[in-house]
Formats: sequence, structure tokens, C-alpha cells
Amino acid sequence: MSTLLEAHGLVRRYHQRQGILGRPRELRAVDGLSLTLERGRTLGLVGESGCGKSTTGRLLLGLEAPDAGEVRFAGAPMPRPGSGDWRRLRARMQMVFQDPLGALDRRLPVGRQITEPLEIHGRGNATARLAELLDAVGLRAELAARYPHELSGGQRQRVVLARALATGPELLVCDEPISALDVSIQAQVMNLLVELQARLGLTMLFISHDLRAVRQVSHRIAVMYLGRIVEEGEPDALLSAPAHPYAQALVSAIPHPGRQGARILLKGDPPDPSARPSGCAFHPRCAQAMPRCAVESPVLRPRADGRLMACHLEQAPANESGSHEN
Ligand SMILES: Nc1ncnc2c1ncn2[C@@H]1O[C@H](COP(=O)(O)OP(=O)(O)O)[C@@H](O)[C@H]1O
Ligand code: SF4
Ligand SMILES: [Mg+2]
Repeated sequence: MSTLLEAHGLVRRYHQRQGILGRPRELRAVDGLSLTLERGRTLGLVGESGCGKSTTGRLLLGLEAPDAGEVRFAGAPMPRPGSGDWRRLRARMQMVFQDPLGALDRRLPVGRQITEPLEIHGRGNATARLAELLDAVGLRAELAARYPHELSGGQRQRVVLARALATGPELLVCDEPISALDVSIQAQVMNLLVELQARLGLTMLFISHDLRAVRQVSHRIAVMYLGRIVEEGEPDALLSAPAHPYAQALVSAIPHPGRQGARILLKGDPPDPSARPSGCAFHPRCAQAMPRCAVESPVLRPRADGRLMACHLEQAPANESGSHEN
């Protein structure tokens, strides 16, 4: 296995105003996030709404620059957003968003929109490629002449996918790709993603708030809480025996064969990135918190079983482990 993309210590801050007259408050949407995407594999990124998943997706593709940290794609630093080098790289990495209607131009037939990236990047025979792409995403050729509003939600998401695949990208970031679709067609689009990933050898980041969806498509799962990854591992191992207390709570909310134990209800308020708790950000809600957790931030580290985890339960005390908040 080789690495396609690496991110180290990513931080992305935003400023948000509370009400019209309120002073802008700084929030850290992503706060020291590191991850690796292996070639030809899917990493599922899961966490509650607002924990920074979409921001992470944008940072990884260089759609936004991080305030700190670094993204490396195919061994080289990610070029500045919008620069010539970045635009050339765009053919190799694509994003699929939640809302296919919002992602498409209502005034253009979908076939034109699928081949648009080929024109931008000056690639080959668009007509032949369009037929290939429609076939790959399971759309009939005659649908190419239709406009977005003439298609169903599932067909529209297939169009978005065909457009994303047009330039033959290595990396696909799918941000909640099925959340806006009817439940009845979510499974079809999921199956298509799994099939395309395997057939084309795509490297994929699959972002979702739904652990069940993530489990279906991912080779590894990363659990995110307030801008950081708190646990990462193989789906079966993580789902049958989650190690991080937050992952335990998420997993306890879904049925899984072989796992025992009752649902863990999280206490306290949902996470607010503009008021990040000190130490381990999860400590006000953690049933297993120790005094150390309020002052010392746990570092994401490998465990003996190949998982990564950021929690003091796993780590030796004193100065050789956790880092203090800055
Ligand atoms: N462009 C932006 N400007 C200000 N705040 C933002 C912006 N984008 C995201 N945020 C805030 O950053 C936090 C993380 O957002 P996001 O990455 O969209 O989370 P998720 O995708 O996990 O729901 C949220 O509090 C959100 O309101
Ligand atoms: S570091 Fe402490 S507060 Fe954070 S998850 Fe682990 S035990 Fe809970
Ligand atoms: Mg999001």
C-alpha cells in the first residue's frame, strides 16, 4: 500500500458573529487534524454535525488553505488554492457534495456538464468519454440531453459522480453524498460508489454523520470530534469494540451483531467549536474522564492492534505523552 495524501496538524479557524450586533467569535472548525489516505482505499470520516468534516474535505483538496499544518498530495505540498499548479492538480482530485441539484447548472443539459471538465483540462474525445461515463454510473445515454430538474435525485447524483470521474481522478472526496437522497435510493448510490471505487482503484474519503453508511463503504474509519480525529481503525474492529469513549457512544447508538452493551447516552451540551473545552475536548461529556483530561490534550497515537486513538486511557501519564493546549 502506498500513500496518496497526507495531512499533518491541520488547523482552520473561522470567525462567526453571534447575532447582528454580537462581536465575531473565533472558532476552530479543524483543530490539529492529521490523516493519511492510502491509494485505492476508502477512509470513512464520521462525526456529529459541526465537528469539522466538510472543512476537512475542503482542506484536503486545497479548496481552502489551512491556517496551520500541511497537506501533501502524491508526495508534494498542496499548491495554494486557485494557483496554476493547483488548477492542474484538480483533474486528479474531485469532490462530490450532498446536494446534487445545487452542484449542477440548471440551464445546461447534464451531458454538457459531465464533459465540461474535459474541456477545461483539454482531454480527449468528449463524445466517446460521455458514453463511457454514463455507462459507468448506470445512466441511459438519452438522459444526457435532459436538464437537471428533469431527473430524479438519484439520477442527478449519478450525473455529479460522472462529472467528478470525467478527468479520471485518483482521489474522490464524497461529502455526505447520500444524505439528500430518498432512503429508497440511498443504497443504490452507495453500491455504485463501492463498485466504482473498486473498479477504478479510486482513493476515497467518504464523509458522513452516519456510522452505518460509513461502515458500508470504508476500508478504515476515522471518528472525529471537535475538529480532531479521536479514533481510527478497521470497520469491523472499531464497530465491535470501539476504544475511545466518544466512539463507544456513537457505536452504541447503532445495532451491530456481536456487540454487547446498552446504548451510551452522552451527557452535557453538543460540541461548540467556538468554546472548545480545555485538555481533551470531550472531557465534559466523558463518563471515564480523569482529572488529567481537563488539562492535558491527548495525542493521536498507534495502539498495538493497529488502531489510532487519542485518549489518556491508553497513554502513559506524565511528560512523555499528551501535549498541553496552546
Ligand atoms: N465558511 C465558514 N465560515 C464560518 N464558519 C464556518 C464556515 N464553514 C464552517 N464553519 C463552522 O465550522 C464548524 C465546522 O463546520 P463543518 O466543517 O461544516 O462541519 P460538519 O461538516 O462536520 O458538519 C461549524 O461550527 C460551522 O458552523
Ligand atoms: S482523554 Fe479523558 S476525557 Fe478524553 S476521552 Fe479519554 S478518558 Fe475521556
Ligand atoms: Mg458537512
